[in-house]
Order: sequence, then C-alpha cells, then structure tokens
Amino acid sequence: MKIVTCIAPVNIAVIKYWGKRDDELILPINDSISSTLDAKSGANMCAKTTIMASPNFKDNKLWLNGKEENFDAVRLQNCLKEIKKRINPIGNKEDIINWNIHICSENNFPTAAGLASSAAGYACLVFALAKLYNIEGDISGLARRGSGSACRSIYGGWVKWCKGESLDGSDSLAVQLAPTSHWPDMRIIILVVNESRKKHSSTNAMKTSMSTSTLLATRAETIVPARINNMEIAIKTKDFAKFAELTMRDSNQFHAICLDTYPPCFYLNEVSHSIIEFVHAYNDFKKSTQVAYTYDAGPNACLYTLENNVSELISIINEVFPTSASREEYIKGIRVKTTELSQV
Ligand code: ADP
Ligand code: DP6
Ligand code: CO
Repeated sequence: MKIVTCIAPVNIAVIKYWGKRDDELILPINDSISSTLDAKSGANMCAKTTIMASPNFKDNKLWLNGKEENFDAVRLQNCLKEIKKRINPIGNKEDIINWNIHICSENNFPTAAGLASSAAGYACLVFALAKLYNIEGDISGLARRGSGSACRSIYGGWVKWCKGESLDGSDSLAVQLAPTSHWPDMRIIILVVNESRKKHSSTNAMKTSMSTSTLLATRAETIVPARINNMEIAIKTKDFAKFAELTMRDSNQFHAICLDTYPPCFYLNEVSHSIIEFVHAYNDFKKSTQVAYTYDAGPNACLYTLENNVSELISIINEVFPTSASREEYIKGIRVKTTELSQV
C-alpha cells in the first residue's frame, strides 16, 4: 500500500481564460494570468487530496467532499491516461502502476461557486498522482486536462498560462512570471456572497459562449494579447494602479461576454454589483486606485489590495455590507504563494 496526501491552493485570474479552441485537450483561445494563493498548510482556500494505491483494492474509487463520485468521469480518466504515459518504470520498482487507487479530496471552501475549486481540485489531484508514481518535470499540462485553470495552480506567485500554438497541446503550459516575494505586500480578500453551486458550470457556459457570443473572438484575438503584455509590465514594475485597472476591466469584459452568450449566464448578483460600485467609490474617495475587484464564474468577489489598506478596507466593508454578504476574510499571509505546492 502506498499513500500520498497533498494540498493545492486556488488561483485567482486577473486576465481571464474563457473559451476553448479544443474541448477534448482543453486548449484555450487566449493566454491568461493569475496569482496563486499561499496554501499555508491548509489555512487558506485549498483542496486536500489523499490517494491510496493497494494491490488489495478491488476497484478504483473517488470521493469528493465526502460523497462518492464517478471514477469514470472523462476528465479524471484523461488525467490518469496522460499521467500513466509519463511513468518511468525505473522510478517505480513495485507493480504500483497496476494497483487500483482510492482518491479522496476535500475543498475547505465552497465548491463550484466561482472560487476556482476546479483549479485547486485538479492541480491537487495531478500533483498527488505525480508523487504517487514519481513523475518528474512540468505537470501543468497534466493538470490542464482536468480543468484549464488548474494548470496555473501548479506554480506559486504570478503565473501565466500560455495558450500554445501546437495542435496536440504540448506547448499549452503554465509558467511562473514572478514569485510571491516579488510583490510581498499584495493581498487578496475574498468576499463570499453566495456559497451555493452555480447554475452553469464554467465548462458548459464557456462552450455556449464559444458557439453563441459574437464578442468572444474579438476579445481573444484583439484585446487580450495587449492586456497580457500590459499586465506583465504592471506586475513586473509593481504598478498597482495599472494592475488594478486591467484586472477590473478584464473581469467586467468577461461578464459582458457572459451576457453576450445566448441564452445569457448571469453570474453576478445585486450584492456583487454593489461591491463593484463600492470599490470604485472607495478609489474615488482615496483619489487613487487602492483596490481592485475580480469575479470568476460566480457571484463571489476577490479583492486585490496592498497590505496597508487591509484593516481599513475590512472595517468599511463590515459597515457597508452588514448582513448581505456572509464574509470570509483570508487576510494575513494571503499573499500569493511562494513555492511549488506543499506536500503534507
Ligand atoms: P469553480 O468555479 O469552483 O472552479 P467549475 O464549474 O469550474 O467551478 O468546476 C466545479 C467542478 O470541479 C466540480 O463540480 C468538480 O467536478 C470539480 N472539482 C471541484 N473540486 C474538486 C476537487 N477537490 N477534486 C476534484 N474535482 C474537483
Ligand atoms: C472564469 O478552468 O473552471 O474562472 O477548463 O472547463 O474546467 P474548464 O473551466 P475552468 O474555467 C475558469 C474560468 C474563469 C477564468 C479563469 O480562471 O481564468
Ligand atoms: Co473552475
């Protein structure tokens, strides 16, 4: 019997991935950039996955958040298939490759609520499998086969997923742009507006956007490439105002694409809209950009700000949103993660 347990944090995109050119290989239509949270031994938002391999297991099994799920799901099978291709028989003396496995994964934050559970979940799964079978080298391409955004959670700090050009996806990989230590006072505050599962999964909604939105191709081809360049410069030069404006504009444009999808996907609710207005009002009051919002495919807000704003911002948020948003504040140490995923 061999057991591995790993944790992997979520990543929050500042230039969004939305749209696939290849659904099977999970190849995106544009590059994207995100920061990965610090996993902090499970204190921050992360997935924790244990995999057991044993010659005595009669079959393969998967549990997600305590509930048994289908082991034959296509994405899990694709990850396993690709991982098995990378196994070096010399590194695995036992017959482990032929043993059945039991996978048990839990998220310590809402699943399928637009807080990147698929990113943490599949990054963790692939990282744990790579440990189990002693796989070496880049594993972001393997994580990508589980969920596109998962490839970015393989690395800490500021990460870019390069869409790649090849047909087989071999160059559609994540790379670290800068480690956490590059911008040590950066913080993320998560405002949980609604914990429920979203109505439209990211995968399905993205597919409908690809076939119906008349704006999506223009965004991917003519807007995102310049934004990626500008975002890389903003991160490199630690220009918060530039970083914040690009982040907010890209979140807004992504949600505009969701509205341009037919039938439309409404991910943001009234509280999400009030948080957007609040952030702009706060920045106006401060006469400079101090905070940025971004929303994935869900109503929950991710705020980027610098350490010196955090306590004041949290007190004002508590005043302005006394009951409407149930908040979870991940403040101290929610800087972006410094190193590769930790193994416990
Ligand atoms: P989110 O916005 O949370 O990423 P998605 O619609 O992209 O939502 O993906 C949610 C799906 O990701 C879940 O229904 C499940 O299939 C998968 N997922 C979430 N967490 C895990 C996990 N820890 N391990 C494996 N798969 C996971
Ligand atoms: C809005 O990675 O969840 O969060 O590749 O189909 O699993 P699949 O989709 P997923 O989509 C994430 C979309 C996003 C933006 C982002 O994280 O870049
Ligand atoms: Co997702």
